[in-house]
Amino acid sequence: MGELIAVYLTVHTPRYCTYETAFAGKLAHPDFRAVRDGLVEQGRQLAGVQPDAIVINSCHLVATFPTVVDGTPRHRGILTAQEAPELIHGVEYDFPGDYELASAIIDRGRAAGHVCTLAADVHYPLDYGTVMPLVCYLDRTQRIPVVPVSVTLANDLEECFTWGQYVVRAVRERRRRAAFVASGSVSHKLVRGPERWPSPEDQELDHRFARMLADGEYEKLWAWLPEYAETVEAEMGGRHLAMMLGAILESGRRFAAALHAYGPSSGSGNYVISLS
Ligand SMILES: [Fe+2]
Repeated sequence: MGELIAVYLTVHTPRYCTYETAFAGKLAHPDFRAVRDGLVEQGRQLAGVQPDAIVINSCHLVATFPTVVDGTPRHRGILTAQEAPELIHGVEYDFPGDYELASAIIDRGRAAGHVCTLAADVHYPLDYGTVMPLVCYLDRTQRIPVVPVSVTLANDLEECFTWGQYVVRAVRERRRRAAFVASGSVSHKLVRGPERWPSPEDQELDHRFARMLADGEYEKLWAWLPEYAETVEAEMGGRHLAMMLGAILESGRRFAAALHAYGPSSGSGNYVISLS
């Protein structure tokens, strides 16, 4: 029986996602420590859960019109991050994909009339929001099959939520014990200055979001998401959060939560949360 066994809200900002930060403990600012340590804990948590597939929705895998689901059987490449080549450069990645699961997700979207595309191409490039959390923290062994899904600009929150539902339905059909990963910030009013925090008001709203998630108030959180995302200018309009909530609610499960950390990056708020 396939099932969504875990959900992760994770962080991809380059200050946290470099080999130096992850492995050598070199932090540009002491305020980054909590999130870095939280990401390490999140990786341990995922290793304990042992999913047999990861579906990841990164705010930096951006498509304009179609929802792209990457079913490439093997994701292999060398990543230099377009907007942070001084921090993330020449990162080799090589992890399996899951064509069957990706196809099943696309089948659901297509049947419901959504604009969507299945990628299955060794040259399909992955973004640092997908690659770095995975290879530095979540699955350093790079053994778990991964299905990247785009954040799609033409999709409103409702449509993103629906795609989260499709993910879980496909997971059931294909009998995977799968994890869903949302890779993105919560509040996201970016400013220059890596160590800068969100405003106290936006931090409070981020904490409210996390508390509701931890308390299992998923329906209420989904109802509040449009207002919250607009007020704090959530990364990518909160599309990754909507897909995460669609997956959670479709699963019908109430998860135990671990709030590993919260911290800043250039004015954004970043939560590291595991649900299992
Ligand atoms: Fe980002």
